[in-house]
Amino acid sequence: MAEAKENVLMEKIVSLCKRRGFIFQSSEIYGGINGFWDYGPLGAEIKRNLRDAWWHAMMRERDDCVGLDASIILHRAVWKASGHEDTFADPMSTCKHCKKLIRSDQWWTLMAEQSWVQSLAALGQPGTDAFPTGDLLKWAKGKGKQLAPNLALVRNPEVTLSWLAQEVEKGNRPKDAREFYLFLATEQLGATGFITPCPHCGGELTEPRPFNLMLRTNYGPIASEENLAYLRPETAQAIFVQFKNVFDSSRVKVPFGIGQIGKAFRNEITPRNFTFRSREFEQMELEFFIPPDEAVQLLHGTVAEWREGADLSVPQPNWGWELWHRYWVAQRTEFYRGIGLGADVLDYHWQKPAELAHYARACVDILFKFPFGTEELEGIAARGDFDLMQHQKHSGKSLELFDDALRAAATKLTEEQRCSFVAEVQEDWNDHHKSREDAAAFCEKLFRGVYVPHVIEPSAGLDRLTLAVLCAAYHEEQKADVNGKVEQRTVLRFHPRTAPIKVGIFPLLKNKPELVAKARAVFNLLKSHCNCFYDENGAIGRRYARQDEIGTPFCVTIDFDTLGEKPELLDTVTLRHRDDGRQDRVKISELLALLLEKLR
Ligand code: GAP
Repeated sequence: MAEAKENVLMEKIVSLCKRRGFIFQSSEIYGGINGFWDYGPLGAEIKRNLRDAWWHAMMRERDDCVGLDASIILHRAVWKASGHEDTFADPMSTCKHCKKLIRSDQWWTLMAEQSWVQSLAALGQPGTDAFPTGDLLKWAKGKGKQLAPNLALVRNPEVTLSWLAQEVEKGNRPKDAREFYLFLATEQLGATGFITPCPHCGGELTEPRPFNLMLRTNYGPIASEENLAYLRPETAQAIFVQFKNVFDSSRVKVPFGIGQIGKAFRNEITPRNFTFRSREFEQMELEFFIPPDEAVQLLHGTVAEWREGADLSVPQPNWGWELWHRYWVAQRTEFYRGIGLGADVLDYHWQKPAELAHYARACVDILFKFPFGTEELEGIAARGDFDLMQHQKHSGKSLELFDDALRAAATKLTEEQRCSFVAEVQEDWNDHHKSREDAAAFCEKLFRGVYVPHVIEPSAGLDRLTLAVLCAAYHEEQKADVNGKVEQRTVLRFHPRTAPIKVGIFPLLKNKPELVAKARAVFNLLKSHCNCFYDENGAIGRRYARQDEIGTPFCVTIDFDTLGEKPELLDTVTLRHRDDGRQDRVKISELLALLLEKLR
């Protein structure tokens, strides 16, 4: 649970975002709409920079990936086939008193944020020594009435406390803080056991039930079940559905990827932590298609497996799925490093077998250390052939590929070698609870050069990344002004690639037409290459401070030396660096090349 200090930091970031035009609450003048956010002028620039950086790294700089820009609304059958219509749900409870909805798996996190829980916790740790019964009674009759009016302890303090005392007497002392709150919400154990308190009012929560997260809409003039559609909850499915069209039209060969950036929508029960969990957000997803390991075995006689220290820099034809998965974790880590998010702010969660989706072979979450906790930025999953197989089954259309080299490799096998190959695959599949018949049919197709590719999916959230970049950039520093008075200043230390404005351009004085004209000329020189901001108002120190606060990495000042007051400095400017305040004298003729080098 976040410490108070970290909440304060988050509040400062949220407030800066609004004050300087990074992120606003959606529909704010109407009271806002929960889980929706608008990006202001600076936020829109950061998002665009991050979107471009992803597209550049994943599509442009590679010769094995191509892009897609699919519609947000897909045929409803897509979501039936993918499993989203039936199972894309979070467990939800409702408060019987205040009617608020709570995501059951976030109950404790929400509880820990509530002031009634914090004020109770301040009375002392339960479960260790004697219960602070007197304090609890006083709390129930005072603060509790305002903070948690529907908690059993507040509605019926004497009954609840005497029941609690009996339980303690019997040796049923709450074993931890969570159970302590269940005790305070329960007057006596009923058939259903403990009552779980609502984080908002302390009232009784219903049993969790699944709540589908897809946002519904209708297309066409009449809203009916026949034209029900969903706003896509992920961009990935459109890639699977268009996989064959892309393959047939793009001259790509397995292994290859299809990437997409676009909006996704989830009716999150409790959107929270600023933009971290929103109802409308953007994803950047790659579906990277690889041959099944069995095809690699036939083609290359061996499947290279991952081991500690394996070289992941250049993909090899004999890589199996595990090496491809590790490769993408390394590639994505490198991407984050390249935009200024290094090992100090990232972490990894390798999902344990019990956490994995039933079809996934492995999944690693790349985590970022947000002020409110270390949370997921991107998931990289090895999804096998699940998605393409589902769409093949539900659509009745073949999503198989033909590989001539594979067929040729298979024709070289003797009958005996084929039989032993099939037997090996059957044994392997048996370990994964798949039938011998299916394994044999799969091998028969492989021998003809036919298979459905497997998938490695790096899936990142653009809004989460924007928030991560903002949090990593946020710094406060003490600085003395010209009169020696120390003041606290905020500096956003964005990596130059992510910074919304790259260069601030200032004439030293605004009432000197020659300075203004020269500064305008420098602005015109740079503006089509990078986002620049021209500012002629206020003392130069104030102008630097304003740019520091929004993270501009470079400022250029045009002064009298630029105009030739010192002849040797004619047509030079001062280039000031945000992070160390260093100031270099640079020729205008060399400025563009120098800046572009630093912005790469
Ligand atoms: N196709 C796989 C997929 O959608 P996911 O883990 O549900 O996987 C991928 O989502 C990424 O999308 C997450 O790592 C996160 O960055 C982002 N994301 C998911 N739900 C989000 C939400 N409610 N608000 C903001 N970003 C979200």
